[in-house]
Amino acid sequence: MKFNFIEIKNKINNFNEKIYVDGDKSISIRWALLASQAIGVSSAKNLLKSEDVINTLKCLKKLGIKIKLSKNLCEIYGHGLNGFIYKKNITLNAGNSGTLGRLILPLLIKSPFKIKLIGDKSLSNRDFSRIIEPLKKIGVNFYPKDKKTLPIFIKGSNYLRPIKYFEKRGSAQCKSSIMLASLLTPGRLEIIAKKSRNHTEIMFQNLKIPMIIKKKSKFDFISISTPEKIKKININIPGDISSSAFFIVLTLLTENSKLLIKNININPSRIGVIKILNKMGGNIKLLNKKKNNNEECADIFVESKKKLNKINCPVNLNSSAIDEFLIIFLAAAKARGVSTFKNLSELNQKESPRLKIATKILKMIGVKVASNDSSIKIYGNPNLKINKKVIIKNYMKDHRVFMMSVIAALSLGGDWRIHDPESVKTSFPSFIKIINHLGGKIN
Ligand code: S3P
Repeated sequence: MKFNFIEIKNKINNFNEKIYVDGDKSISIRWALLASQAIGVSSAKNLLKSEDVINTLKCLKKLGIKIKLSKNLCEIYGHGLNGFIYKKNITLNAGNSGTLGRLILPLLIKSPFKIKLIGDKSLSNRDFSRIIEPLKKIGVNFYPKDKKTLPIFIKGSNYLRPIKYFEKRGSAQCKSSIMLASLLTPGRLEIIAKKSRNHTEIMFQNLKIPMIIKKKSKFDFISISTPEKIKKININIPGDISSSAFFIVLTLLTENSKLLIKNININPSRIGVIKILNKMGGNIKLLNKKKNNNEECADIFVESKKKLNKINCPVNLNSSAIDEFLIIFLAAAKARGVSTFKNLSELNQKESPRLKIATKILKMIGVKVASNDSSIKIYGNPNLKINKKVIIKNYMKDHRVFMMSVIAALSLGGDWRIHDPESVKTSFPSFIKIINHLGGKIN
């Protein structure tokens, strides 16, 4: 019989270990999509082999791109810009991935036929108008008209025009989507973007795509001219900081423990979690810094912390920690004092409504919380212990809700039943293996 939940009844014992986490998801998906537009064979080492990335490869294959995937290497045979082989009645499935759904659309803006884009239940609830509206201004057609969610049909045009696009949410998906559209749109496209992760910019720079970026304190001004072609991209993908974050907090909250997490992407636009936890007294260190394909990487060293302090989280760190707030909230629940986090309405736009779900889970485990649609106040308790049964289910199979719950169970105790463990396959297939390596005993 296949169990659709895991049970955790004991806290984890102290550990002193070195681990590797899976490759970075944002970089993996961007590499695959850009490689499909390059001329020649691009290769990636340490590509994340999670469902979101595998779905990216499947979509590209449906568009006529040859891909070879082995244990250590992925090769993509690009046919150049707009080199997809379009057929009638293609359906692309983005599965659970907002990044894939939103970043593949701009590569389809010259399709002569309608292409259907679908996703799973969670993705079908998420807002796509944030991508559809600017792409319509470029001249792309979407059906049904005025639909804001998947499934949708996209049909390209031969009369595309560059736009001026103002990205004011701090969404890297929106920014990257329009940046990718610039590859197939004639002329010079301009973007004013609130700060967000900049992996697409770094890849564009590596590819020498004609782009100018002017950085201001809150916004980046990006202008891109259509490249003639893009060359192949060989890359070695570093570990994912978003996956590491769960183990960082597990270590902070487990007595007498130490952890070294090897070769993680520490792009400044991604390390909000480290800045926030260090402001709370975490003392997390970045060692052996180096650059790889112009992305900064390092080993992360973390030790247990007897007492973390409250934080009034600076809103300018929100975008660089956007995927880590669930686990940061858990750290705040065990900290001394009342922590506040504001301007986080985007959290309810993720794989599940995370601000709502975090509030529910924290209350369930006895933490006092006050939250509304965009902010949360967490009344921390350094002596927080759980002695009761906790059941986590009906959370839209959000991988990060699952992982946060596992870390809560292992660090705070209690008798936990956590449903939908297969959710981790979307972003971090090795999660349970690593937990067990640290002594977690999960079947
Ligand atoms: C991502 C951007 C973020 C993040 C997501 C990955 C990306 O989404 O939550 O997991 O790779 O660009 P938003 O751009 O919607 O904030």
